[in-house]
Amino acid sequence: MALYSEKVMDHFRNPRNVGKLDDADGIGEVGNARCGDIMKMYIKVKDGVITDIKFNTFGCGSAIASSSMATELIKGKPIEQALELTNKAVVEALDGLPAHKLHCSVLAEQAIRAAIKDYYDKNGIEYDPADFPEDDGHDPHGEE
Ligand code: FES
Repeated sequence: MALYSEKVMDHFRNPRNVGKLDDADGIGEVGNARCGDIMKMYIKVKDGVITDIKFNTFGCGSAIASSSMATELIKGKPIEQALELTNKAVVEALDGLPAHKLHCSVLAEQAIRAAIKDYYDKNGIEYDPADFPEDDGHDPHGEE
C-alpha cells in the first residue's frame, strides 16, 4: 500500500496558493523544533472573510501538502470558520497521513491560527485568548 494518498501527492507536487501576499492583513509563522520545518501563512481579510491566502513552507512533503490543503479549505471562508479548522480536518481532506507525519498537519493549523491572531492584533480586534493557546502557535509539540 502506498504510504501517501493520491491527494497528498497531488498537493505536494502541485501545491495551491504558494507564495506571499505583500499586502497581507495577517502573517503567521510557526515551526516545529523537532524536525526544523517552518511554515508561513499570509491572509487577506475583507468584511470578516479570508479573501486570499498564500503560504511558504520550508519543510517536508507532508507539510507542503497540509499547507496547500489547509489554504484551500479556508479560502473564501469567514474567519470564525477558519479558526475551527483542525489538523484532523486537514488530514481527512488529504485522505490521511502516516502517523509519524501528523505533526506536519498540526503546523498548518497553527500557522493559520497565528496569521488570524496577527490580523486581530494589528486591527485591535478583541478575541478570546482561549482560541490562541500557547505562545502564538509556536508550540513545537508533535502529535506523533
Ligand atoms: Fe516536520 Fe513534516 S517532518 S513538518
